[in-house]
Amino acid sequence: MKQGTRIPALAKLLPFGALAGCAGAQSALQPTGAEASDIGTLFWTVTGISILTFLLVLTFMAGALKGSPGLRRRISDQRTIVACGIVLPVFVLTGLLTYGLLVMEAGSTRSASAEGPGITIVGKRWWWRVVYETPDGREVVSANELRLPVGRPVAIRLETEDVIHSFWAPQLGGKLDMIPGRTNVLTVEATEAGISRAQCAEYCGGAHAMMAMFVVALPPDGYDAWLAAEAQPAASPVSALAAKGEAIFAEYGCGACHTVRGTGAAGIVGPDLTHVGARHSLAAATLANDHDAFVRWIAQNQHIKPGNLMPPFDMLTPEELAALGTYLDGLE
Ligand code: CUA
Repeated sequence: MKQGTRIPALAKLLPFGALAGCAGAQSALQPTGAEASDIGTLFWTVTGISILTFLLVLTFMAGALKGSPGLRRRISDQRTIVACGIVLPVFVLTGLLTYGLLVMEAGSTRSASAEGPGITIVGKRWWWRVVYETPDGREVVSANELRLPVGRPVAIRLETEDVIHSFWAPQLGGKLDMIPGRTNVLTVEATEAGISRAQCAEYCGGAHAMMAMFVVALPPDGYDAWLAAEAQPAASPVSALAAKGEAIFAEYGCGACHTVRGTGAAGIVGPDLTHVGARHSLAAATLANDHDAFVRWIAQNQHIKPGNLMPPFDMLTPEELAALGTYLDGLE
């Protein structure tokens, strides 16, 4: 059972990819965050003014082509041309520019007002490392899912160690690049609980399109409880099969790249797997999160996400893969 969300089954029910978009999980026009709401209002304002301008131009064209001689004289009058061709555009465009700049400024004002622990997201090839700060100043490393408390502005530091990525959670806020050697700060405030989708929005290599993740906004109490649980070491295997999976995980050296806190696995090349079974997706929103998906990913990950840094473990027997899948799926 995945914990801590209002709609835990939603993401697992969605066939990944196209249908997630159809369900509105990644639409900038259905904001569930304060910044996205401001951007949505800006979009509809600009769209409305553009439509009005287009209709005005069509009206003048119709008048110029089909109007009476008197109307055509008035349309071609120099005062009309100056008023509608110079003065009006200057006012409208200056107004829209000012409005747009104010909306952009709104983000930085909120950056200053974001109190409390922040979150760091690091773009990787092709996944996301997500590091949460706890209220007592510790760091909790996770991956490929972003959890946020509703109603609290959170400063998200965006970093990368390889190439430029771009973090974009359309229902939450605007898009901001992750640039090597630099930390960009995006402050977001979720306004309602629920799950939406984020996507890397800058081409960063072959599997760029498979660099996504789910954003889970939780009520503040639920978030605090989830973070406290996320900070805990991994649970011990609860079945003989899972224990066999843990042994195979160690035997094949998975811990050289992956961390499972509370075990000997402490690699930092790949995603932290301490609570991987509790996430809503595998491989950065490429697969659903269940036993079979773990098995497929371990054996065929180069087929699923070509060029990712994990080697395919297709030498494992079906029994070994099943044990590994049971172990990893149980890391909740
Ligand atoms: Cu990372 Cu595109």
